[in-house]
Amino acid sequence: MTEVLIVYYSRHGATAALARHAARGIEGVAGCTATLRTVPPVSAENERPVKAVPDSGAPYATLDDLRRADGLLLGSPTRFGNMAAPLKYFLDGTSAIWLDGTLSGKPAAVFSSSTTLHGGQESTLLTMALPLIHHGMLLTGIPFTVVAGVLISATLFLIAKFASARVATFFMSFLAVQCVLNALVDLKGLFQMSSPFSSQIVHTDAANMANATGLPAIFWAGFWIILAVGILWFVMRLYVAGRDKSFQPDLPFEEVPPV
Ligand SMILES: Cc1cc2nc3c(=O)[nH]c(=O)nc-3n(C[C@H](O)[C@H](O)[C@H](O)COP(=O)(O)O)c2cc1C
Repeated sequence: MTEVLIVYYSRHGATAALARHAARGIEGVAGCTATLRTVPPVSAENERPVKAVPDSGAPYATLDDLRRADGLLLGSPTRFGNMAAPLKYFLDGTSAIWLDGTLSGKPAAVFSSSTTLHGGQESTLLTMALPLIHHGMLLTGIPFTVVAGVLISATLFLIAKFASARVATFFMSFLAVQCVLNALVDLKGLFQMSSPFSSQIVHTDAANMANATGLPAIFWAGFWIILAVGILWFVMRLYVAGRDKSFQPDLPFEEVPPV
């Protein structure tokens, strides 16, 4: 059995939720088992956690957990473009296993949670990767994204260049519908998480808006759903109104008629 250790810090639950999803994914692979561990929060004088075991959630990670693991997944919220101090504090205490090369040659990956898009996630992931590289761990990525991106781009290019207008329109409409459905599913998830009856406490944008304005999170989730459906309706109106025009000179590969 291959054991993948997942060590994370989470203050408001978002990184913890990601860690649980990762554990579910690992457990879904035959021959793999996932171990979830968190790290204690830090204070100015922090030699050891106040309680040996947290009140809820995963137990605290130890050096023995790292020794036993065949691979490591490290998760942290983004804190000003950097990993959170408790995780850094935990990593700073791993000199003993750095000396004997315990982690050297083992695979590792990192994940993060943040409030904003482009909020410094990439730099956070880099800060988390550096100590692992120092330990001699092998950082793994997901090459699928590149392959899938190239394949999808090439397919769209070929369709736009060679397919009939009918086929090209079908594919573009298909992609547009898929994007809209993804967005609506995300909004549904946000609505559920923002419900006062939700069992999950997640630090979403709706929760941030609720803190900033005093209006409940479910109001903001509902507001964004109505706004999204309004934009969708408006775009569909534009599409229907412009559908019968014979050409659109701003599109690539479209023949521009003589003036
Ligand atoms: C001190 C501090 C700094 C933060 N810095 C950033 C940031 O640079 N970019 C960002 O998008 N979010 C930032 N956040 C928001 C957290 O990354 C975000 O809420 C994250 O999802 C919390 O994860 P958790 O629920 O696992 O604690 C910061 C939060 C705190 C408390």
